[in-house]
Amino acid sequence: MTSFAGHVAVVTGATSGIGRSIALRLAADGATVHALGRDQERLDSLGKKATGPGTLVPIRLDLTDDAAVTSAVELILEQHGRVDHLVHSAGAYSSARVDAATLTELDAQYAANVRAPYALTQRLLPALRVAGADGGADVIIVNSTQGLRAGAGTSQFAATQHAMRAFADSLRQEINADGIRVATIHLGRTATPRQETIFAREGRAYTPELLLQADDVADLVAYLIGLPPTAEITELHLRPAKKSY
Ligand SMILES: NC(=O)c1ccc[n+]([C@@H]2O[C@H](COP(=O)([O-])OP(=O)(O)OC[C@H]3O[C@@H](n4cnc5c(N)ncnc54)[C@H](OP(=O)(O)O)[C@@H]3O)[C@@H](O)[C@H]2O)c1
Repeated sequence: MTSFAGHVAVVTGATSGIGRSIALRLAADGATVHALGRDQERLDSLGKKATGPGTLVPIRLDLTDDAAVTSAVELILEQHGRVDHLVHSAGAYSSARVDAATLTELDAQYAANVRAPYALTQRLLPALRVAGADGGADVIIVNSTQGLRAGAGTSQFAATQHAMRAFADSLRQEINADGIRVATIHLGRTATPRQETIFAREGRAYTPELLLQADDVADLVAYLIGLPPTAEITELHLRPAKKSY
């Protein structure tokens, strides 16, 4: 296991599913992890789950609230002055055929899935550059297979994932020279509360053991972060080895 002692991480979506596993994993590997989420109860339980030797610092905020994001970034900068790893796992999901999809849902997914990670990254760039100049830094974006090829009923969500893929590709070319790597992970179905809801909506039996596990994704993030600073993986496709259909 690589030790991330002394590293400062920011993980969004840390109150649920994939982000939660990533936050716990990085803290277990020694990092100081700023764990961002909206749900206070789940933030509290996350803090109790942490096993160290790193530290979990729960931060309650809505990432679509610009003022809240500015305050959180100021707090992180005051405490550390650097961010070694920024992992975006927060996001909203809804599905509907174009006939039935609402523009309100489109705006909500754009705000949570594109504007929010864009704004947070933008504000943390100076802190990422500090770490980039001192051993290297990472921006890791948890994306979806829907960010590669959109299926029916996912026009809005898939559009946000394509947007984030483009954001990552453009950002990488701007900040690689500052010692900052940018990776996109395109995930297939992963056993999380979100996926359980999707299976229920589809009227299908939920068999989480047939899906990717959130801890599998956390392992991958730890691997990416642990790569030597001379190497960068830009994009990965992670699919369930077994299939639920
Ligand atoms: N599960 C899958 O099968 C799958 C497949 C492909 C890609 N992904 C991607 O993986 C990521 C995580 O998915 P998941 O399944 O772990 O989702 P999840 O269980 O639904 O968790 C979503 C997380 O996002 C946070 N969040 C949403 N909107 C927010 C906002 N406005 N401000 C702050 N936090 C917000 C939630 O916080 P609160 O709960 O505190 O509100 C929660 O922690 C997503 O980007 C998703 O697109 C998932």
